Amino acid sequence: MAIKKVGVLGCGLMGSGIAQVSATAGYEVVVLEQEQKFLDKGFAGIDKSLAKFAEKGNLKEPAETVRARLKGATDRAALADCDIIIEAIIENVEEKKKMFSALDGIVKKDAIFSSNTSSISITEVAAATKRPDKFVGLHFFNPVPLMKLVEVVRTIATGDAAFEATFEFGKSLGKVPVRTSDKTGFIVNRLLVPYLLDAIRAYEEGVGSIPDIDNSMKLGCGYPMGPFTLLDFVGLDTTYYISQVMFEEFKERRFASPALLKRMVMAGWFGRKSGKGFYDYADASNPVPTKF
Ligand code: CAA
Ligand code: NAD
Repeated sequence: MAIKKVGVLGCGLMGSGIAQVSATAGYEVVVLEQEQKFLDKGFAGIDKSLAKFAEKGNLKEPAETVRARLKGATDRAALADCDIIIEAIIENVEEKKKMFSALDGIVKKDAIFSSNTSSISITEVAAATKRPDKFVGLHFFNPVPLMKLVEVVRTIATGDAAFEATFEFGKSLGKVPVRTSDKTGFIVNRLLVPYLLDAIRAYEEGVGSIPDIDNSMKLGCGYPMGPFTLLDFVGLDTTYYISQVMFEEFKERRFASPALLKRMVMAGWFGRKSGKGFYDYADASNPVPTKF
């Protein structure tokens, strides 16, 4: 299973990062989006990030050489000859199943299918295809170009060859892969998501202000970002979808969405990517805590 060409589904926060690290590692990359405007936005982010790496002397090749390996597409047929597909579209199981079921008839039969889902069952999405033995979870972390970890997720139907090839692929991107199984939230989100949701509940209960809770976890525990900065960074819409999937699985309060999170998503406050969440990013260099 030699991997030369990578197909990435979605060019949002995660898809753009996954495409960037794949091209940086030397792979040809095709990124699929719904509309050209989403590709333009994602590629602008990639250009900015590559420029930062180049500025620091952390790119082995000129940014333009890396960039030339990246192609955008809005037609699924462009993925036909990819060796691995990495899905990073919206956290919605029906959308993911629809996408993979359509690609099953388009992408060559021996290609590996993988999903970057945060919480959805890999087994369920794999079952929408005729290649569950070649279906693996490949969970990257935000921001992908900087975060070293990738979780490689095996289902009861994943074959050894596809799993090991995906594990090696993760390493070839300069990441540190860990092996995990298809249990909701895998390793990191099983632990991280209840913490983030609890921070919102603590705020709702008046334990502290948004900046005070953020500073407490930064200065008291050495976390690089406080929970509200991280929630805005991950995306409140994505966090809300994740909490729904995790609550559905575990039926425990710690995975349930706090009322405030749901209302912020209904209001279109998705965090940094929409300009407003627990902070207002009108001036991105000086986020101001949102008043509720
Ligand atoms: N590309 C290239 N360079 C980047 C970059 C990017 N995308 N983003 C930031 N940088 C650079 C900055 O320019 C900066 O460079 P200088 O030192 O030259 O100024 C450097 O990286 C450090 O950035 P910052 O000073 O802005 O901030 P920082 O020191 O806090 O580091 C961080 C940034 C690595 C993101 C750090 O804050 C961090 O680790 N945060 C926590 C992130 C985290 O927990 N991610 C996991 C989220 S959960 C998830 O992903 C799973 C899920 O399913 C939801
Ligand atoms: P995002 O909202 O930033 O990007 C999703 C992108 O997918 C959008 O650009 C959208 O246009 C595109 N898209 C939606 N449906 C599509 C379709 N049918 N075909 C092609 N493109 C489509 O979301 P994100 O934060 O990048 O999250 C993507 C996936 O990665 C989700 O499954 C999420 O749970 C997971 N994830 C997110 C994070 C995070 O911190 N945000 C971390 C790890 C994993």
